[in-house]
Amino acid sequence: MGSTMETIRTDVAILGAGGAGLRAAIALAENAPGLRIALISKVYPMRSHTCAAEGGAAGVIKPGDSLEQHFDDTVSGGDWLCDQDAVEAFVDEAPGELLQLEHWGCPWSREPDGSVAVRPFGGMKRERTWYAADKSGFHILHTLFQTSLKHASIRRFDEYFATDLLVDDGRCQGLTAIEMRTGQLKLFQAPAVIIATGGAGRMFRFNTNGAIKTGDGMAMAYRAGVPLKDMEFVQYHPTGLPSTGILLTEGCRGEGGIMLNRHGRRYLQDYGMGPETPVGRPVLKTMELGPRDRLSQAFWHEQKKGNTVETPWGDCVLLDMRHLGEKLIDERLPFVRELATSYLGKDPVTDLVPVRPTVHYMMGGIHTDIAAATPLPGLFAAGECACVSINGANRLGSNSLTDLLVFGRRAALSALDYVRAAPRVANEATLAALAKAAQTRMRLLFEKTGGTESIAGLRAKMMDIMEEQAGIYRTGDGLEKARAALNELRRRHAGIELNDKTNVYNTEWLQCLELKSLLDCAEAVVAAALARRESRGAHQRLDYTERDDRNYLKHSLAHHHPTDAPRIGTLDVVITRSQPGVRDYSGAHR
Ligand code: FUM
Repeated sequence: MGSTMETIRTDVAILGAGGAGLRAAIALAENAPGLRIALISKVYPMRSHTCAAEGGAAGVIKPGDSLEQHFDDTVSGGDWLCDQDAVEAFVDEAPGELLQLEHWGCPWSREPDGSVAVRPFGGMKRERTWYAADKSGFHILHTLFQTSLKHASIRRFDEYFATDLLVDDGRCQGLTAIEMRTGQLKLFQAPAVIIATGGAGRMFRFNTNGAIKTGDGMAMAYRAGVPLKDMEFVQYHPTGLPSTGILLTEGCRGEGGIMLNRHGRRYLQDYGMGPETPVGRPVLKTMELGPRDRLSQAFWHEQKKGNTVETPWGDCVLLDMRHLGEKLIDERLPFVRELATSYLGKDPVTDLVPVRPTVHYMMGGIHTDIAAATPLPGLFAAGECACVSINGANRLGSNSLTDLLVFGRRAALSALDYVRAAPRVANEATLAALAKAAQTRMRLLFEKTGGTESIAGLRAKMMDIMEEQAGIYRTGDGLEKARAALNELRRRHAGIELNDKTNVYNTEWLQCLELKSLLDCAEAVVAAALARRESRGAHQRLDYTERDDRNYLKHSLAHHHPTDAPRIGTLDVVITRSQPGVRDYSGAHR
């Protein structure tokens, strides 16, 4: 790490080059030719986690479906914690975004008549999930990436690890990032910054998330004074591979797969998810297509009742796709077949596949408004790292790929308006001093000696405590334990000594920073979960089992404190046309 620092001047800096970041970059380039756009990512864009999405993206396209129905499914699926103005905008803009991808070359799967195919997905009462077999994320990301290459104004900074936002004069004016190839810290001076860095699921032991999903962007915003909203709502996906946590898409059930307990019973009928319906296609039923929070909670109860199956990797239930046949599986779920066979030695064509809930998605994130703007002028956020909120207490599967398109574009347009309206001159000396302070902190990390803590050891403890005390069901006592344990881990984090003092691709250094981000995000999850003394969506408390609209029909806002516990504030939920009601998944759809 040298002492001089290069400054890169740009008009908009986008942090994260996955689906949301790329969508934002394209929207900026198309709407403002000549604008300087810096696209900064700790990985090469095609290695972003969007690539791992499987099942598809929701948007109304078929006769018989409607924007109203998509709105209703989303709002009730979110247990009425969604901001309804945001959901209205989202469902309105969703079809256009998916068609736009089609025009950019996304190979959506087709019906025999050539029209775009859709499949059923959990909690959606109509078929509206566009898909590209079970590699939808890969194809979406590839489409966005290749489209971004057409625009010379998008300057990429691959393998740059962002460390700090630069805030001066009450506004965000850039950031610092480590060039991983050299270990040099760079100053990105930008009047507008868009964070699109994805979620923080790696704070839990069992998760579907790539190793890169360490909440860096959320933590940077949090430390810069922007609240994290609704962090207590963490989504478990009901069908993860037990050995690795890798996702088996909800598309398995959308195509007609069923869930069985150790007695061969379709146990979901015992949890308010409809009478047993005939196995096979068409599959518009509730049962296995209930929402993720309910399915994951049902697993927990089955486990308590001793109805799960013991496997070398822990308790599981069984996903049965055998009746779908090899042809359909190979056509629509080839990746699922490959994953189950490679990682478990189970071929869905002939075998039952053991599955278990695994952390998948953060409903919470950086507090933004419907225009993707945070309360900090000059800072915008989109995708999983942001909380607009369209997901409320529980996201419906296939809404997130669309979300990152709709709000990635919105973030770009808002940032553009902001840059055009407020061309204020930066105080370069102040920004340089802020960047220098970040550099000094990095140097102190390198100079530390006599440390006794290991990154892997602290990370394992964090993952275990989160899984045990902040998982599918929670209690006040358990969350208090988690809070104390996290405080201890945060203290111990300061005792890490880097063994690797070199500059070139120093992954130990980066993992140390990632762990700090995860601990910051975990602190917000636990504090917000403690404050919410009710059960709603994915936040279930055994000591407060009912939804309590009188006291808790509110977003939580976790405000960072450098030396003390976060302060938890609240914000009213925007309700436009759907008053809180009962979530009913007991009937067949249509
Ligand atoms: O199951 C899935 O394919 C996941 C989709 C999603 O999280 O939206």
